[in-house]
Amino acid sequence: MSINNFLVICMKLSILLSLIFKAHAQPVKCDQTPPQVTVSEPSENKGLFKLSVVRRDNDTKNVYLPDQTYVLMLETTNITRPFRWFMITVEDPDVDNSAHGFEHHSVDVGSLKTLASNQQSRYSEKCFNTVESADYSEKNYVEIHWVSPKNSPKQKVRLRATVVENPEMWYTEEDLTIELKKDDRKPLDSAPYPTVEHCDLRSEARYEITFNGRWSRLTHPRNYPSKPDENGYSHMVGASHAYDFTLWHHGTMASLGMKLLAEDANITVIERDIINNMSSTGGTRTLIRGKRRHHPEMFEPSHSLFRADSIHHLFSIAVAMKPSPDWFLGASRFELCTPFGWLEEHEMPLYPWDAGTMDGVSYESPKSVTNPTDNIDRVEIGSFNSESPFYQMNLNNLKPFAYLHVKRLAVYPIKGRNCNDIGEEAEEESDVQNDQEVAIEELRVLESVQQHCTFSEWYEWSQCVPDQGHCGFGTQIRTRSRLEKSHSNKYSEEKNKQFKDIVSCQKDQPLMQSQPCYVDC
Ligand SMILES: *[C@@H]1O[C@H](CO)[C@@H](O)[C@H](O)[C@H]1NC(C)=O
Ligand SMILES: *[C@@H]1O[C@H](CO)[C@@H](O)[C@H](O)[C@H]1NC(C)=O
Ligand SMILES: *[C@@H]1O[C@H](CO)[C@@H](O)[C@H](O)[C@H]1NC(C)=O
Ligand SMILES: *[C@@H]1O[C@H](CO)[C@@H](O)[C@H](O)[C@H]1NC(C)=O
Repeated sequence: MSINNFLVICMKLSILLSLIFKAHAQPVKCDQTPPQVTVSEPSENKGLFKLSVVRRDNDTKNVYLPDQTYVLMLETTNITRPFRWFMITVEDPDVDNSAHGFEHHSVDVGSLKTLASNQQSRYSEKCFNTVESADYSEKNYVEIHWVSPKNSPKQKVRLRATVVENPEMWYTEEDLTIELKKDDRKPLDSAPYPTVEHCDLRSEARYEITFNGRWSRLTHPRNYPSKPDENGYSHMVGASHAYDFTLWHHGTMASLGMKLLAEDANITVIERDIINNMSSTGGTRTLIRGKRRHHPEMFEPSHSLFRADSIHHLFSIAVAMKPSPDWFLGASRFELCTPFGWLEEHEMPLYPWDAGTMDGVSYESPKSVTNPTDNIDRVEIGSFNSESPFYQMNLNNLKPFAYLHVKRLAVYPIKGRNCNDIGEEAEEESDVQNDQEVAIEELRVLESVQQHCTFSEWYEWSQCVPDQGHCGFGTQIRTRSRLEKSHSNKYSEEKNKQFKDIVSCQKDQPLMQSQPCYVDC
C-alpha cells in the first residue's frame, strides 16, 4: 500500500470517526494536518504564503462590520513557489482549537463561501466552518468569501489557513492567521443619542424634518432601474411618539401599514395606525407627512413639521423606494431628548431597509411573497447575487440613498392643560397648516383622567398634495383634536353633566379626513 493510499484511508477513517463522535455530541479534534503530507510538523513560512482580507477604500484594518461580505485572499508571494492544497477555517478565538470539530457550535462566526465560478474549493467534510482545496493542482492564489456574523454578541473571530506546497512542506499559523474585531462604531445612519425611557425635559419642542433623496444613476449605477421615469419615493410618513410606540424596527416584523407602504407606497393604513395611537400619555403625538417625490424631482426635499414633548420624545419615519420589492428608507426610534436639552440639529445618511414581506434581489426583480415573512432588516449589502445592486459591496462604500435632516425650530414652556387652552392650540396649528408644502397635522389630545370627550372643529383643509409631480390629482387632509374633559374645578356640575351626555372617545371616530383634490398645472 502506498503512503498516499494509506493516508486517504486514514482520512476516511477520521471522517467516519468524527461522524460517530458527532452523533454522540462529543468534541472531536478538527485535524488541520493536510491529508497529503508525509511530515507531521509544518515548515517555517517566513512570509512566503499569506492570508489577507481584501480591503476596500475606507475599510479599517482588523475590524469587521456585521453581516457584510469580505473577500479573503490566500496567495503566494513568490510565483515560482505555488501551493497545491489549502484549508481555511473561521473560528472563535476563545475556543481551544485543538478540541473542536464538527460538534455543535453556539458561537456565530459567520460563514465561508466558495465561489461558484471557482472549482478549486469546496466545503470541508472534516471541519466546521471550513473550506478546502478541491484538487491538488498548482495555485498562485485563491479567493474565498466570508460573510461576517449578523448580530453575534461575540466581538472576535479568527480566520486560519493551512497551505501545502508539496508533501514535505506545509504551513500554518504565521501570516496565515488573522484575528478580526467587530467594529462597534455606530452605523452612519444612527441617531446621535441613545433612546431613553423617561425624558425629564419640562418643555415642548417644535421640529422641522427634511428628507433629501439622493438615489440616482450616478450614485447607484449597478442595476439601476431600466425605466427611470417611473422612479420615485413614497410620501415621507411617520410620527413623533412615546418610548412605548414602534413604527418599524430592525429585527421586528413589519406591521400591515409598513408592508403596504414598502410594497405599494400606500400610506393609508400606516397613517391610520399613527392617528389611532394618538394619546397624551403614550403612543403618538404628531403625524409626520411629507410630499411624494418622483423622477425627475427626486432630489427635491420633502418636509414636515412636528412636535415633541417629555412623553413623545422620539420620532420615526419611513419612505418607500419605487421600484423595489419592499425597500424603504427611514429612521426608527430617533431620540430627541438629550442630556443637553432638546436635540438642536442633526443630519444623517439613509440606506435601504427590507420590510421582509417580498422577495427580490434588485429594484426590478420579479416579485414574490416572502413566506414565511422575514423581519425588517437591512437590504443585503455585499450580496453574492450579481443581480443585486449591492453585489459584493460593503456598507462603508455604499453611497447614501438620502439624507435626513432634523432641525429644532422652537422650544415652548408647557402650557396649562385645560380646555381654555384649546383655542390657542388650534390657532397655532392652523398657522402651521398654512405652511407651504407641509401637509401636517398636529393633534393635541388634552390630558384627562376621564373617559368622556368631544372633538374640536375640523381644522382647515391642508394644501393639496399632488399624487405625482407638481400638479394634477392629489389628496388633501384635515384634522381635528380630541378634547378630553379636564378635571379642573372650573367646570360646574352642570357642565359635567353635559359632558357625560357626549359620546365617549371612540377609537373609530376619525381624527382625520382626506379628500381628492386637484392642482392646476
Ligand atoms: C522565489 O523562489 C525561487 C525558487 O525557490 C528563489 O530562487 C527566489 O529567490 C525566490 N524569490 C524571492 C523574491 O524570494
Ligand atoms: C391602500 O391600501 C388600502 C388598504 O389595503 C386600500 O383600501 C386602498 O385602496 C389602497 N390605496 C391605493 C391608492 O391603492
Ligand atoms: C396602535 O393602536 C392599535 C389600536 O388602535 C393597537 O392595536 C396597536 O398595537 C398600536 N400600535 C402600536 C405600535 O402601539
Ligand atoms: C473615503 O473617505 C473619504 C473621506 O472620509 C471620502 O471622501 C471618500 O468618498 C470615501 N470613499 C468611499 C469609496 O467611500
